[in-house]
Order: sequence, then structure tokens, then C-alpha cells
Amino acid sequence: MTMRIGMIGMGVISKFYVAGFPRVDEAKLVAVCDLRKERVAPFEARGIDATLDYRELLARADIDAVIINVPNDEHYAICRDALAAGKHVCCEKPLTIRRADAERLVDQARAGGRTLFTAFHRRYNVNVVRALPQLADRSRIAAVTARYLERIEEHAGDDRWYLDSRRCGGGCLADNGPNVFDTLASFLGRLDVTRAAVERDGAGIDREADVDLVNEGGIPVHVRLDWAYPRGERKDIEVSLKSGERIAIDMLAGFDEFKGSLWHEYEEILRDFVATIRAGGCHGEDGLDAVRLVSDAYAAEGPSRAAQARKRAVPTTVVKLLQHKRSDRGFVLERHATRCVRAGEVHELVTTDQATAGPGDRVDRVGFLGFVEARAAGVIERGDLVVHGGTVIGRVLGFDACHFPNHYNVLVAAAAPLTAGELGLVVEDTVKFLPGEPSPEIEGR
Ligand SMILES: NC(=O)c1ccc[n+]([C@@H]2O[C@H](COP(=O)([O-])OP(=O)(O)OC[C@H]3O[C@@H](n4cnc5c(N)ncnc54)[C@H](O)[C@@H]3O)[C@@H](O)[C@H]2O)c1
Repeated sequence: MTMRIGMIGMGVISKFYVAGFPRVDEAKLVAVCDLRKERVAPFEARGIDATLDYRELLARADIDAVIINVPNDEHYAICRDALAAGKHVCCEKPLTIRRADAERLVDQARAGGRTLFTAFHRRYNVNVVRALPQLADRSRIAAVTARYLERIEEHAGDDRWYLDSRRCGGGCLADNGPNVFDTLASFLGRLDVTRAAVERDGAGIDREADVDLVNEGGIPVHVRLDWAYPRGERKDIEVSLKSGERIAIDMLAGFDEFKGSLWHEYEEILRDFVATIRAGGCHGEDGLDAVRLVSDAYAAEGPSRAAQARKRAVPTTVVKLLQHKRSDRGFVLERHATRCVRAGEVHELVTTDQATAGPGDRVDRVGFLGFVEARAAGVIERGDLVVHGGTVIGRVLGFDACHFPNHYNVLVAAAAPLTAGELGLVVEDTVKFLPGEPSPEIEGR
């Protein structure tokens, strides 16, 4: 019987799905949804039902499955609601931008007996698929390098969510990492992160990332991601064999049209989604695995290349969450621009939008994040980037000592006073202090 499918999110990528439907006998597109009327109107004209509210689509008993093709930060809530409505789900990568959310979805899909499938389009790329037989014997492989290089502005639609780290999950690592990790895992098996370096732009988006991984048999893997690549795009994998031979897989070979390979890749996603449901389903395991690697890579992140020579990163673990805000707190910034912390010390993190406050100034408008434990000794410095997962929370503004010697209040300049809940912090998460731009005031002391 034909699977009746609804699509939520009709932006840049939707046309590749839509084009695949007529070629996949077992799948029929019966309804579409987007917040923007002009995106669904052409479908209505073709007799496909359209709505601006995804809940209406999910409420329909005659829809078996949905494709979720919205910005990354909206995947979790819509997947959750779709599974709760009893639909099978095909969700774009990354499954979620937070690991805890991906774990929740996997549990929900298992408990409800629904398929949760992640659309990793590169695993169907014809150049990858052709190379797989040569890679089947892992004992021949000495090392693997993968490159995923593009200029993100050429790939983004008119909504700029890609360039907002809180909406896309970080930047190139959160967004492109999952596709690369999944493709590599398809012939290398389980991967684990050993080291990561990330370069961010002034807006806190990661534009470049280098991730070292190792597979379960000890094969070293290097992944290079670049969102600021000036020369078109390059997406390839190079496998070095122990014999000295090399297998080069160029995912874009044979596709001259911009994004031309996506036509066949998305047709195969549809075909595999339907076949997976028919075969008894999957429950988001592969999607979660890619989210795990992204999350581990951000957790392993050290200082950027530029900052590496100046100062080590200070990794901390969240030990207690705080959820309140105040507009009259009366913190006073210490005159010191740096504070030394020892491993095991606990300090409080507080956000503020009073970004221009300096030594001696009073800071009133604050949001409380919670307490963190330093995992290594180091120096926290005014201007340090405060990073959670792929998201830059803000920069260290200074220190308030009203609770010292119990702990310092580390004031973080952010877009707004934020609480732990608003940032999705959970206990045991990693929050890092990464060296920011060198400040003459600090360097010249
Ligand atoms: N653009 C690419 O090159 C590319 C490639 C592979 C995968 N993806 C993934 O595909 C997904 C979509 O990316 P895109 O580039 O098509 O984004 P896009 O911004 O072009 O389209 C997203 C669409 O979702 C709609 N939308 C947002 N919230 C919604 C909601 N609550 N209900 C209904 N509609 C809603 C928006 O109005 C927009 O039309 C993302 O997860 C992305 O990571 C994108």
C-alpha cells in the first residue's frame, strides 16, 4: 500500500524531496506545511493540501508519515509532536542540536513503535555507493580524510538561521558534521572523537573545524569542515590503504549543476525511508550517533589556532542549574581582568546584556545560568568566549567577588540576560572558556 506522506518546511531543500515522489511508487505527497503562505500556495494549486500550522497536518488520520525539513533548532519539537501523533518521521540532519533531545526522541520512537529516520543524503551519493565494495575489508584501510568545504551563504535560503549559532546548533560542525560522520560510519563503523579545533567568526559561528576521530579498529580519521571556502564547493573522501594505494571519492564528480547530486540522493532518501518503515523501522539510532559525535567534538574543542599559543581553554562541568533573572542585582565588577581557577573549584555563571560595563561598574540586569566545576586549572580572562556545545553564550565581562572566597560570580556579556533553561543547559554538560581576541589591556600588563 502507498505510504501517504506530509512535508513540513518547504524551503531550499524541499524541491529535492518533491521531485523524488513521482519516482518512488510507494510514496505519495498528500499535504505540505510552511509558515509562509507563498511556499505552500503552488502545491494547493496542484491539489495537494496545504496548511500553515504543522499541528493540523499531524492531526490528520490519513497521513502515515511526515518529512521534517525545517531549521535545525525546530527539529526536536516537531519530531516529538509527530511521533506523539503516531506518525513515522523522516527528519533532516542534524536530528537535533542537543544530544539530550536526540536521546529523548530515540526513546519516544522505540516506546511508540514508530520509525524515526534521519535524512543523511550523502550515504546515497552514487560516488560513495560505488566505492563501498572496495572499502568493505576494513583491515586494508590505513587512514581516512574527508573534506566538506563550501561557502554557507551560497547554500542558505533567505532566512538566515544558518548564521545564528543558537538556531543552527553552532556552525559548520553542527550542520555539515553529521552528514560527513554518517557517511564515514557507513564503511568504518563506530567512530569516536579524539581531538577537535574550531575557528569562529565575530558572530560566534564556527566557520572552520578540524576533527580527528578513530574507528573501533583504530583507523585514524580526519574531517575538515569549512563554511568560508572561497572556491565553490568540495566534498570528498580520501582513503589511504596499507598497500600504499589511495581511493579518492569525489561526491560531486559528474554533477556540474549546483547541488545537482541532491536530486538522486533525495530520491534515495524517500525510497529508503519507505523501505525502512516496511522492514520494521528504525528509531533514530544513526541520527543520535551523529549528534553524539558533534557534541563530543565541541566538548573536545581546544583553543583556536590563533589563540593556541596564548592560553589554554578552561573546560568546566555544569553542577547546578539556575533559572531566575533579576533587574536590580547590584553586582560590581572587580578591577582584575583575569582570575586563576584550580581544577575542582566551583564558580557561578551569570549572563547580562550590560556588555559595556567595565571595572567598578554595577551590573543589575542578569540571568543566572548556574554553577560550574573547573575540570583543569587555568586562567579565565575578560573577553574569553563562553561556549556550550556549538553555541557561544557570550564573552566574559568580568568578575564579582561578593561571595568570595566561596566562589566568584563570572559575568558573561550575552545578547540578553539568559537562564539555564533558555540555553538548554543540563547538569553534567560542558561549558568552556576559550581564549578570545587578545586585549591590549590584558596583554600589556
Ligand atoms: N540547504 C542545504 O544545502 C541543506 C542540505 C542538506 C540538508 N539541509 C537541512 O534541511 C533542513 C532545511 O534546510 P533549508 O536549507 O531547506 O532551510 P530553509 O530556511 O530554506 O527552509 C526552511 C523552511 O521551513 C519553514 N519553517 C520554519 N519553521 C516552521 C514551522 N514551525 N512549521 C512549518 N514550516 C516552518 C520556513 O518557513 C522555511 O520555508 C535543515 O535541517 C538543513 O540542515 C539543508
